[in-house]
Amino acid sequence: MYKMYSNKPFLKIPPLSNAEYERWAALLENRLGIIVPKERKLFLQSKIWSRMREVGYTEFDKYWEFINSGIEGNLEWSQLVDRLTVHETSFFRHKPSFELVSEDLTEKINGHTKPLRYKIWSVSCATGEEAYSLAMVAHKACKDTEKDANFGVTATDVSSPAVAIANQAIYSSDKLENIDKPYRNYITKLSDEMFMIRDSLKKRMAFGVFNLLDVNKPSNVKYDVIYCQNVLMYFDKSVRQQILDGLVNHLARKGLLILGQTEINAWTHPKMTRVNKSRTLAFRLK
Ligand SMILES: C[S@@+](CC[C@H](N)C(=O)[O-])C[C@H]1O[C@@H](n2cnc3c(N)ncnc32)[C@H](O)[C@@H]1O
Repeated sequence: MYKMYSNKPFLKIPPLSNAEYERWAALLENRLGIIVPKERKLFLQSKIWSRMREVGYTEFDKYWEFINSGIEGNLEWSQLVDRLTVHETSFFRHKPSFELVSEDLTEKINGHTKPLRYKIWSVSCATGEEAYSLAMVAHKACKDTEKDANFGVTATDVSSPAVAIANQAIYSSDKLENIDKPYRNYITKLSDEMFMIRDSLKKRMAFGVFNLLDVNKPSNVKYDVIYCQNVLMYFDKSVRQQILDGLVNHLARKGLLILGQTEINAWTHPKMTRVNKSRTLAFRLK
C-alpha cells in the first residue's frame, strides 16, 4: 500500500488546553508584542501543531520545553515565529506612501548643497517587496538628478525565514503586475515564472532580523524615512504607542515616519507634525 508519510503517521491534533493557550499567548505577547485573542486559539493550536510535527513533537508541553531551552530553542523559536506571523505583502502596496517618499527625496535633493545620503528603514519588511519598492523609488529619484545624491535601505523583520527570502531577491512573476513600467528596469526575468531584483538595487540594501519590541535600544544611525506599515495592528494599543515613540528617536532631522493609513488612531508626539498628504498617514520630525 502507498504510504505518503510512512515515518509520520497521521495524528489528530490534541486540543490545546486553556492553560496551555494562555502560556503560549503570553509568550507571543512578551517576545513579539503580538496579541492572540482567545477566539484565535484554534489558529494558534494549528500553527504550533504543524511546526512541532515537522520537528517530531507530538505533545505541546514537550515542544514548549524545547522552545524554552537554550540555543536550539532560540533557533526553533525563529522558525515558529515565521508560522505565527502574517507575511502578506506586495510591491508598491500603498502607492500614495511611495509617492510621498519620492517627493520628500526630490525636495531634499533640490534643497541640498552638500552630497545627500538618504537613509530609509523598512521596519517590518516581510519577504522584501516593500523594501525593494522603496529602493526603486529612491534609485530613480537619485538617478534623475545631476546632484550628488545616494541612498541606502535597511530592511528588517522579526521572522528570519522571511528576511532570508528578502535577501535572495527572487520573486514569482505574478508579483510583477504591481511594478509599474518606469521601475521594470530594476528587475531581470529569470524565466516565465520568476524574476530577480538587479544588483544596482541589491547593493543598496541591508537586511536583518529585528524585533520591533527592541526599538528603544540605542543606535547611532538616523533615518530620513522610517516606513512602518501593516504591522502595528498586531500589537496592543499601548505597545503600538511605545513602538512609535521609540521609532521617533531613530529619525534624522526632518525625517518622515510613514505608517499604514488605518494603523493607529490619535497618535501624537511633541516632536512630530502630521504630514498633509491625502491618503497617507505620515509624520515629520520638527
Ligand atoms: C503583514 S506583514 C507587512 C509587510 C509590509 N510591511 C507590508 O506592509 O507589506 C507584517 C510583518 O510584520 C512582521 N512582524 C510581526 N511582529 C513583529 C515584530 N515584533 N517585530 C518586527 N516585525 C514583526 C511579520 O513577521 C510580518 O513579516
